[in-house]
Amino acid sequence: MLRIKLAFLVLFGAVVAFGFTISLQTSSAQKKSPPYGLAAYRDNQCVICHLSLTEPLRVSAHFYEWLNSRHAEKAVGCEKCHGGNVLAKDKEDAHKGVLRSSFAQSRLHLQNLTTTCNACHQETVTAFVQSKHFQKLKDSGNGPSCTTCHHHMASSVIYWPPETSQLCATCHKAESNPAAQYAQAPAQAADVIAAFSRADEVIEWSQFLISEGRKRRMQLRAEEEELKKQEQILKAAKVKWHEFDLDGSRQHADQVFNEATKIKNRLVRKGL
Ligand code: HEC
Ligand code: HEC
Ligand code: HEC
Ligand code: HEC
Ligand code: HEC
Repeated sequence: MLRIKLAFLVLFGAVVAFGFTISLQTSSAQKKSPPYGLAAYRDNQCVICHLSLTEPLRVSAHFYEWLNSRHAEKAVGCEKCHGGNVLAKDKEDAHKGVLRSSFAQSRLHLQNLTTTCNACHQETVTAFVQSKHFQKLKDSGNGPSCTTCHHHMASSVIYWPPETSQLCATCHKAESNPAAQYAQAPAQAADVIAAFSRADEVIEWSQFLISEGRKRRMQLRAEEEELKKQEQILKAAKVKWHEFDLDGSRQHADQVFNEATKIKNRLVRKGL
């Protein structure tokens, strides 16, 4: 009898230990591999903890904004902008140095974004600090900063002209704002964005024709190289746009459109 009891206890113990190992394995597996699409964040404790937070809404919503952004796609985790200790599993340790953006000392305060974003967007920041916007932002806080136009962690790039003009109008059509002296800026900005999009589209069209031509083994080296040059010019124009020289930006965008259109027409004449 005693022997049966002992055997039972041993068996029971083994089952419990086995079950325990399995549950340990699943919980460490859950911690170690974030779900689909987040493999780059295997060791990022900010992302691992925040992805399962549902409250408070304000915090949870920011996680989803990030998830939806180009930054999430390009392995730019929370700590790259917020600071903190990305390896700490404990909340207090992780949050050391993380300050809410409303604090003047926060890396993410509107007036400090140029420094924080400069780590990866030097050219854009260099253009932006030459603008009157930056002067105003620095002197009085009354000027747009990066997130005024791009929202949290750039979940948004404004590609739709009416949206651009609405955004500019919040200051440029407000009567008591000194920005109202540039009341034409919103409409002009909408045109610049439309001109950027038009140039983007004709470049894409040419790229499509070139890829079709390649399938037919056509010789399109010259067109390909010229198109690359136009892509570079357009990219530079989007950076330079941050100086808010609207006439200059428009001219660059239109030049690219005209040159890329010529390339597209040449491709069409070649039978594509
Ligand atoms: C173990 C879980 C955990 C880890 C790890 C963690 N957080 Fe948090 N975080 C929270 C919780 C919970 C909140 C909600 C507010 C609170 O309880 O402090 C929060 C809030 C925040 C907020 C909003 C603060 C505020 O008061 O508005 C920011 C920003 C933030 N975390 C960034 C980070 C960054 C950056 C990292 C990594 C360096 C990180 N978190 C790591 C759990 C965590
Ligand atoms: C590219 C930079 C960038 C990245 C990456 C980023 N954030 Fe933010 N975050 C900001 C900026 C700028 C603000 C302030 C403006 C705003 O709220 O829109 C902010 C605000 C927040 C806030 C509101 C509290 C506050 O300080 O205003 C929370 C919560 C937050 N972020 C969480 C996160 C979490 C969690 C991650 C990673 C999953 C993350 N952020 C990644 C730039 C970033
Ligand atoms: C650690 C590097 C890093 C930091 C810091 C960073 N970014 Fe980025 N950002 C990137 C990368 C990488 C991309 C993707 C570029 C690409 O796809 O060509 C990007 C893309 C963007 C885009 C384009 C988004 C789109 O959908 O096309 C905007 C706008 C942007 N960042 C704004 C910001 C702002 C504002 C800040 C500061 C709050 C910031 N970034 C901080 C690395 C960074
Ligand atoms: C007044 C509005 C405004 C401000 C302020 C602003 N941007 Fe932009 N940004 C735009 C617009 C509009 C575009 C062009 C969108 C397009 O590609 O057609 C753009 C484009 C970009 C891009 C390139 C996206 C792409 O399509 O390649 C990056 C990166 C970027 N901005 C970063 C920043 C950073 C960093 C700051 C702060 C130093 C900043 N922006 C300030 C409006 C603004
Ligand atoms: C947060 C408020 C704010 C927003 C949003 C804003 N601006 Fe401004 N802008 C200003 C202020 C303030 C001035 C400077 C007025 C002065 O000279 O006193 C200014 C000046 C300008 C100037 C003239 C300065 C120069 O360098 O020639 C242009 C052009 C301009 N803004 C374009 C835009 C465009 C385009 C947008 C939208 C994409 C925009 N602004 C959004 C506040 C804003």
